[in-house]
Amino acid sequence: MSGSTIIPWVVGNWKMNPLQANAQQLIQDLKQYFTQEQISAQSCHIGVAPVSIALLNVRAQLCDTPIKTVAQDVSRIAGLGAYTGEVSAELLKDSGIQFVLVGHSERREIFADTAEIVKQKVQHALSAGLTVIYCVGESLEQRESGQAEQVVLQQICDIATVVQAEQWQKIVIAYEPIWAIGTGKTASPEDAQTMHAKIREGLSQITDQGKNIAILYGGSVKPENAVELAACPDINGALVGGASLNAESFYQIAQAFAKTQ
Ligand code: PGA
Repeated sequence: MSGSTIIPWVVGNWKMNPLQANAQQLIQDLKQYFTQEQISAQSCHIGVAPVSIALLNVRAQLCDTPIKTVAQDVSRIAGLGAYTGEVSAELLKDSGIQFVLVGHSERREIFADTAEIVKQKVQHALSAGLTVIYCVGESLEQRESGQAEQVVLQQICDIATVVQAEQWQKIVIAYEPIWAIGTGKTASPEDAQTMHAKIREGLSQITDQGKNIAILYGGSVKPENAVELAACPDINGALVGGASLNAESFYQIAQAFAKTQ
């Protein structure tokens, strides 16, 4: 990251975890690690994304730490109304949530979030003033057939029509090759850097903010591989699943990225 002015992001995606008792323990542990003030807001943005029913509780408990609370998803419907089970960007904003993941591969694959739906989610989240962590990534099949770059760049282009020029500063990209998520397999730092550089090139063709947009890597990030990933010039942080459920591991990953400043 040397030479880059981008402040890295390290975000823990808790997915559909953990039970209350374990969440309480995790929050207590996070508070201990992250109030040591070794990671300043200028050296790294830190966030955790709990399940939606825990967002307000987690936010309240972490308000005296540098950790931001991030929603894992948002409705494709804006505003308020008769949409059972949905949580809109306006409702997130109204509850003090300022950050949201959109387009995670689990949403795309398991819950049928198409490119069109993802685009609507990004548009509404930005209109409500939220910062969007937009997830992209190819499947193993797509990588093996040589389509990885094309797939990922298309996912970036998918949102280009709904992001206004000034809204790119509210976008963070998370590149998560699907075959590396939860599998223990990580893209090599070289492969990840190559893709991140392509993404930055693609972004730069769409917006003059391209060089300032944080591009996070996700997919089995652990303390053991974080330092190497953090050393790559276009890897500006991590979206961490499994390892974020352990406060010590998550803290070590955050340190690896914060140290690269
Ligand atoms: P993982 O998940 O770190 O467990 O691979 C990453 C993610 O899906 O965000």
